[in-house]
Amino acid sequence: MIERVLVTGGAGYIGSHIAVTLLRAGMEVIIVDNLSNASELVLDRIEAITGRKPLFYKADCRDKQALQGIFNTHHVNAVIHLAGYKAVGESCEMPLMYYRNNLEATLVLLEVMRDFGVDKLVFSSSATVYGDNVSMPVREQAPTSVTNPYGRTKLMIEDILRDVVEARPEALKVALLRYFNPAGADESGLIGEDPKATPNNLMPYVSQVAIGKRQKLSVFGGDYPTEDGTGVRDYIHVADLASGHLEALRWLDEVVDLHCCQPINLGTGVGYSVLEVVSAFEQVSGRQVTYEIVDRRAGDVAVSYADVTLASELLGWQAEKTLEDMVSDAWRWQQRNPDGYGRS
Ligand code: UFG
Repeated sequence: MIERVLVTGGAGYIGSHIAVTLLRAGMEVIIVDNLSNASELVLDRIEAITGRKPLFYKADCRDKQALQGIFNTHHVNAVIHLAGYKAVGESCEMPLMYYRNNLEATLVLLEVMRDFGVDKLVFSSSATVYGDNVSMPVREQAPTSVTNPYGRTKLMIEDILRDVVEARPEALKVALLRYFNPAGADESGLIGEDPKATPNNLMPYVSQVAIGKRQKLSVFGGDYPTEDGTGVRDYIHVADLASGHLEALRWLDEVVDLHCCQPINLGTGVGYSVLEVVSAFEQVSGRQVTYEIVDRRAGDVAVSYADVTLASELLGWQAEKTLEDMVSDAWRWQQRNPDGYGRS
């Protein structure tokens, strides 16, 4: 039985939604986050949603002593590892910072888990590990390749985890969850995505245009081989993504195959173009989203969407929410928190 889960990076966008889901499932949640891209305010919001507050440690995962102290104090049954830098463009400018941070945090965490006998890990990987040479929908067996240092840290960590499981299969079981494009927010409007600077990702950018914080969206490329010429992605509601983590934990708890380091796609299996997202946002918000089609963004693929068969077979999980749900929840969060956690 999994009773107590440590979530690294648990105060961030995805982590906070996972905390809500686990608390609702009756689990105890311990968040470890250095708040480099998150706000402590999120803890009160999680409590407002669930009636329960996660335990919180402001600590960096690279701080071995801090992690040892936490594992010493609490009997942790499983870990969900989200902590890491995640901006593709920034990773191209500062590759060393990305390798140092993302790899070291994982290595330290794995050492401490080993020392304390914690044998279940869910890792936040990314569809970025499929690179741009695969046909869609993409299955987990597809060849991997990456186009930037951020993606490479995800792929390297997948490889590291495989080696660690291979060396001592009785000591660690791992689910490598390959996220497609997380979007939306908790339907309460209390927690959501809060980009510190200019958003890199489509959904928060569009919502800042709709609210009037930004003048117009640059649509990166109008000449892709897609129906309307713009890029197609598999957007998945962050609450669905969170429930995928809960099911992955339950699966790890039950699975008997001890050679287990299993990649699993988390997506909806459906792709939407940039212009379809823009139009869904305009409909839900009643606001105009001004846009301009500009050059393609370096490193972008034309189309990306998941084959979600494996998640359904192994975890009994599938995404339930629609693009409209994602857009209306993102819009509710944006309206109620125009400055994110900053001055709301
Ligand atoms: N887009 C725009 N304008 C913007 C932002 C995005 O047109 O201002 C387009 C992109 O070109 C793409 C789509 O919107 O077609 C989605 O772009 P995002 O930046 O939101 O997402 P990506 O698919 O590029 O990246 C996401 C994650 C990465 C991950 C990657 C690969 O953010 O962490 O998926 O799976 F690596």
